[in-house]
Amino acid sequence: MIINTELEQKGNLFPSKIINFKKDVDTLYFSTDNDVVLQLTVLRDSVLRFRYSTTGTFGNDFSYAITKYASTGYNHLTIDEDDEFYKITTSKLICHIAKEDLRVSLYDAKDNELINQDEVGFHWEESYEYGGNIVKMSKISNDGESYYGLGDKPNHLNLKGKRYQNWVTDSYAYGKDTDPIYKAIPFYTGLHNKKAYGIFFDNTFRSYFDFSHERRNVTSFWADGGEMNYYFIYGPQMQDVIESYTDLTGKPHQLPPLWALGYHQCKWSYYPESKVKEITSTFRKLKIPCDAIYLDIDYMEGFRCFTWNKEYFPDPKRMVKELADDGFKTVAIIDPGIKIDKEYSVFKEALEKDYFCKRADGPYMKGKVWPGECYFPDFTNPKVRDWWSGLFKELIEDIGIKGVWNDMNEPAVMEVPNKTFPDDVRHNYDGNFCSHRKAHNIYGMQMARATYQGLKKYAYPKRPFVITRSAYSGTQRYTSTWTGDNVATWEHLWIANVQAQRMAMSGFSFAGSDIGGFAEQPQGELFTRWIQLGVFHPFCRVHSSGDHGDQEPWAFDEDVTDIVRKFIELRYQLLPYLYTAFWHHIDQGRPILKSLVLYDQEDVQTHYRTDEFIYGENILVCPIIEQNARGRRMYVPRGNWYNYWTNELIKGGKELWVDANIESMPIFIKEGAIIPKYPIQQYVDELDIDEVTLDVYYKKGKEVSTLYDDANDGYDYTKGRYSLRTFKLKGKENELIIQQHKEGKYTTKYKTFNLKIYGLPFEVKEIQLDNEIIDIKRLILDEYSNIVIDKDFSELHIIGV
Ligand code: GLC
Repeated sequence: MIINTELEQKGNLFPSKIINFKKDVDTLYFSTDNDVVLQLTVLRDSVLRFRYSTTGTFGNDFSYAITKYASTGYNHLTIDEDDEFYKITTSKLICHIAKEDLRVSLYDAKDNELINQDEVGFHWEESYEYGGNIVKMSKISNDGESYYGLGDKPNHLNLKGKRYQNWVTDSYAYGKDTDPIYKAIPFYTGLHNKKAYGIFFDNTFRSYFDFSHERRNVTSFWADGGEMNYYFIYGPQMQDVIESYTDLTGKPHQLPPLWALGYHQCKWSYYPESKVKEITSTFRKLKIPCDAIYLDIDYMEGFRCFTWNKEYFPDPKRMVKELADDGFKTVAIIDPGIKIDKEYSVFKEALEKDYFCKRADGPYMKGKVWPGECYFPDFTNPKVRDWWSGLFKELIEDIGIKGVWNDMNEPAVMEVPNKTFPDDVRHNYDGNFCSHRKAHNIYGMQMARATYQGLKKYAYPKRPFVITRSAYSGTQRYTSTWTGDNVATWEHLWIANVQAQRMAMSGFSFAGSDIGGFAEQPQGELFTRWIQLGVFHPFCRVHSSGDHGDQEPWAFDEDVTDIVRKFIELRYQLLPYLYTAFWHHIDQGRPILKSLVLYDQEDVQTHYRTDEFIYGENILVCPIIEQNARGRRMYVPRGNWYNYWTNELIKGGKELWVDANIESMPIFIKEGAIIPKYPIQQYVDELDIDEVTLDVYYKKGKEVSTLYDDANDGYDYTKGRYSLRTFKLKGKENELIIQQHKEGKYTTKYKTFNLKIYGLPFEVKEIQLDNEIIDIKRLILDEYSNIVIDKDFSELHIIGV
């Protein structure tokens, strides 16, 4: 056995040679003569699970991250052995397990290329203080290998050369180098030799990842307790890795209601009622689209969850209804800390039912949050989750609140050095009783899950909408998220861009930042540039602490208001496009934002880009993140792209300067794309839309685009009442053909498509619609660019002279 003596001196222990091998259907057990067992499960041809024990036996197999809906099943599985190793072969992977020391090597089954290899591999250190082990894994890292993922890390997209921790932490005004912050997503994608693989280390203890930081040719990960338990996911396409990870940890359980993809306005805090109304009516007066208005903690009575301050909000039900009549959905904040108050029914009930977290020796976990001294429900107890979800009945069913915002759920505790519970706090962990060391990273997730269950039940037949600050892998099944307490600085605009992309490649697409910055106040220019980026994030909300002035679109000057309006309008026009991207996300696990490396991993130029990304399938966006800029250099990925503003066609695969004064930002459309657009509405479903615009971008060659529609809310779509249109575009020198294929039982409200065609290289002689020549004078209004046709057409030919 090769042992790195330096490692050994640190108290590390290592597996010795394999003495026994057993197979049980899809699971193989390799036992060593020092009681280490590797349990290797083949979940799918491209997904293997590695689980290690150092005592010869395994504890209960339980995970909050893995969904019961994960797909399993492989086509092919063989096991061979020779003198040196066992060899497991699936149709995608070959896995070698060294008989000498249990080290693992993984190869592409098609070309036998080495993809990933243990360095020392599994090793561990015994923990005297807590029992169990500090479990460790080290892998070879190659020159030219890149790493991506890990949730909300506010640093460069490529993780190479850095070390990170996962321990969800309340991080007011964090910076580029703050680590850890609010999320714990122990999943990364490695990319080497144009092949991508993923590693998901499903361990909820505080965990660490070192990407060639300590030692140049080693990438390692370890955790303070629990098991070495990781999933190896093979691509070789990065998008497939992310889709498989999302399959494993779950897609959102349903589409968000379409209004949740609109623009949201928030502040800490809008109160009293007259202030809320002033804000909402100003949106309508200035004709700035907005769908959601938020109530931060001051709506409550002394910050007691599920109560109302009757002085500020004398009749919440009436107010919420009046707001709804004006198209506003009201979202309210709910925190985990329950005020210690014997007169307060939520507190009394939880106390009686024994639902609060306790310290190791029995006292309650007491900590200060907004209401003062609080106790905290143990959301890892299924009974507590049920109870908690029931508390939403009045808020949702009776008062009509449409969304709930879960905050401070790391859980955050004020005025204590570690900002959270001490390690000894006990948790139920769904019957796997444990300390806070193990439950900390999933506490917020379980709170959001309980909240989600409440909304799902009481909002029915409408869809639930939840936002959470803290998250572990799998939280995306229940809720959207935001990136916490950022700052109104240009650096934070850069961070917001990186975080939204990184979250998307960590399986959590429904994310956004506090647009404009939470702490401090932006200048109009920064606010404008942030809105320009924010309208391309799946979750789009302005929020600020309110201590430093106002942050509504009209709080700056008229020019800012006008530009901001224009970009929010663009978001509303692109709603069918975003909704379609969301459908791809929940259906296939496809990330809604795609960093350039994800879009084109074969092009090494993309491996270190951070700013540019693809929104949905076909729109390339690059925010302006510097003050006084009138444009910027950006990398345009390979292929041809139309400048959204000028329709000029450019060839990608290079860096170039793009003009973008404050009224503009670099936006490009992929050649061949068909982009659906709604008319501008002040809020979702304001108008009965009878026509959808299709922006068609000519390409010589073929391209496929999709358009998904349903009732915009409710669950009918799950019973087949959706409409999925696939457009096949085929451009020739002298002809443009668009074929439509339809699926689903939903009849869209719109009746026609208005086609606007860009980049047509020929003059139109004739248009044939479903085999009939149509009168172009009647149909073409604006130089062959507006063609209004029945939405159910099958085939359109535009023929040149
Ligand atoms: C936390 C949240 C912030 C919220 C504030 C008051 O700082 O991150 O969004 O406004 O608490 O509830």
